[in-house]
Amino acid sequence: MTMHILPLSRLILLGIILAIFIHQISAIPPASFSTRFKPHAKFNTHNTGSSKFKQRTSSDTSGISSCKYEIPSPLQNGSTQIHKSIETPNKALSTKSLLPLDGPQSSKINSSSFDWWYYDAVSSTDATESVTVTLFASSATACPWLDASESSVLIAYIWISFANGSSFEGYVPATLATVSGGGLIGVASMGNWEGTGFSWVSIGDDFSDYEVIVDSDEMGIYGTLKLTTNLVPHLPCGISSYVTTLEIEEDFGWANLIPDANATVDMSVKGTSLQFQGRGYHDKNWSNKPFISSIDSWYWGHGELDGYSIVWFSGFSASNATLGSTYVPKDGTVLVSICDTTKTIVRPTVTGSAANYPPVAGDTPDGFTVEIELAENEWLRLNVSIVNEVAGDGEYYLRWTGNLTGTVEDGDTVRELKSGVAFFEQFALVE
Ligand SMILES: *[C@@H]1O[C@H](CO)[C@@H](O)[C@H](O)[C@H]1NC(C)=O
Ligand SMILES: *[C@@H]1O[C@H](CO)[C@@H](O)[C@H](O)[C@H]1NC(C)=O
Ligand SMILES: *[C@@H]1O[C@H](CO)[C@@H](O)[C@H](O)[C@H]1NC(C)=O
Ligand SMILES: *[C@@H]1O[C@H](CO)[C@@H](O)[C@H](O)[C@H]1NC(C)=O
Ligand SMILES: *[C@@H]1O[C@H](CO)[C@@H](O)[C@H](O)[C@H]1NC(C)=O
Ligand SMILES: *[C@@H]1O[C@H](CO)[C@@H](O)[C@H](O)[C@H]1NC(C)=O
Ligand SMILES: *[C@@H]1O[C@H](CO)[C@@H](O)[C@H](O)[C@H]1NC(C)=O
Ligand SMILES: *[C@@H]1O[C@H](CO)[C@@H](O)[C@H](O)[C@H]1NC(C)=O
Repeated sequence: MTMHILPLSRLILLGIILAIFIHQISAIPPASFSTRFKPHAKFNTHNTGSSKFKQRTSSDTSGISSCKYEIPSPLQNGSTQIHKSIETPNKALSTKSLLPLDGPQSSKINSSSFDWWYYDAVSSTDATESVTVTLFASSATACPWLDASESSVLIAYIWISFANGSSFEGYVPATLATVSGGGLIGVASMGNWEGTGFSWVSIGDDFSDYEVIVDSDEMGIYGTLKLTTNLVPHLPCGISSYVTTLEIEEDFGWANLIPDANATVDMSVKGTSLQFQGRGYHDKNWSNKPFISSIDSWYWGHGELDGYSIVWFSGFSASNATLGSTYVPKDGTVLVSICDTTKTIVRPTVTGSAANYPPVAGDTPDGFTVEIELAENEWLRLNVSIVNEVAGDGEYYLRWTGNLTGTVEDGDTVRELKSGVAFFEQFALVE
């Protein structure tokens, strides 16, 4: 993929689109700030409203169908279908099969389904500074860390950590979510959690640029998180002939549209300016089963060091099957894109020594080792060290930013890499 300068006409178009978005923001609901995550929340029985996904389809000149979806805020009844694969006839990602991937992947949000859009950025000069934005369409029974007393399934969540190590988290429920994309009028993807001030837009048709816009009077947060990449999107098991899976586990989808990006954050947080450049990431997860009925534990992370971009995922399903997925492009060339759990080994450490594995709830490592087979006899070995805990409940779920150091071992040759930064997490739902 090549980087491009946006033609003026597109910028004007973007301005018009954003102006329409801003017009749609009305009747802002009262702010809700969560204190801590609440894992294993009780069954939530909010069942109001009646609308289903409304989908309008049209075609642009390239014949690619473009869609606008509306996701209602009340929990829906009935069964949810999810998107599980895409067509890849020439073992390649065509624009046509890729473009729908940032749209909703669940047909509705019932009490067991979720569909979320995740963005993060960590400063490359000081890993204590970070921003994470997640736009949820999820019931609290499907994602038990959401607030079960919240009647809207549409939650715009933000986590911020400052250079002094202090952090802020908060969320605002939306009244309606609109998600459009598919290349319509030069926009790959666009979303707006109405009434929250949170939206995103990706101009073009290759997912190389994203802008997440925060304009929240409730939280006093204003500004943008921008991502620019030249990497092709990452799917759980790489690209197969004819049909490529989107499932990391049965009925659990994952599309990583931005595996690693140059990130620029420019925000004002309750009057304090937060500005940094670093590494960024965007993915999307969905399922029609509650998270805890699919997953026992996982380690996930992404980072960059010395030209290597890395996305790692390693875990155990609820039936204790090993799960894994790894993506390693170097300077834009994909070296590894697999879901072979024997070629990626992620282990927790405490002061440099091995810690409890598989993890149980309450385990708090101070780092990880990540070992990835790049080619026969060639291993990338990483030390991931925690700099800051940026989210979590300290027990079932933890998310950190940190440093990456590492080596490439090719036969007898060991080459030390220049250090970098990472964003990573642990879910350990088993007691
Ligand atoms: C779901 O079903 C319940 C019970 O029948 C009903 O009260 C509720 O309005 C329904 N919700 C929607 C979104 O149709
Ligand atoms: C939600 O959809 C899933 C998948 O179709 C189904 O198994 C589940 O029973 C549905 N939940 C409700 C409450 O209808
Ligand atoms: C850290 O910085 C934030 C943002 O400027 C500020 O609100 C907070 O009070 C600071 N915390 C400490 C302990 O200095
Ligand atoms: C990311 O930033 C680096 C350093 O400023 C620059 O060399 C590179 O071209 C940028 N990449 C993209 C995709 O913009
Ligand atoms: C999305 O799911 C993948 C694996 O299924 C996981 O590695 C990643 O952490 C998930 N994203 C988030 C934000 O949890
Ligand atoms: C799951 O499998 C791993 C090895 O693959 C094993 O160490 C662990 O004890 C198993 N956990 C349970 C709960 O059976
Ligand atoms: C992370 O890297 C920074 C910059 O090199 C360094 O100052 C800091 O001590 C490192 N922290 C850890 C926990 O490795
Ligand atoms: C990784 O950590 C181990 C154990 O602390 C240490 O021996 C090794 O030198 C570290 N490697 C790098 C590249 O930082």
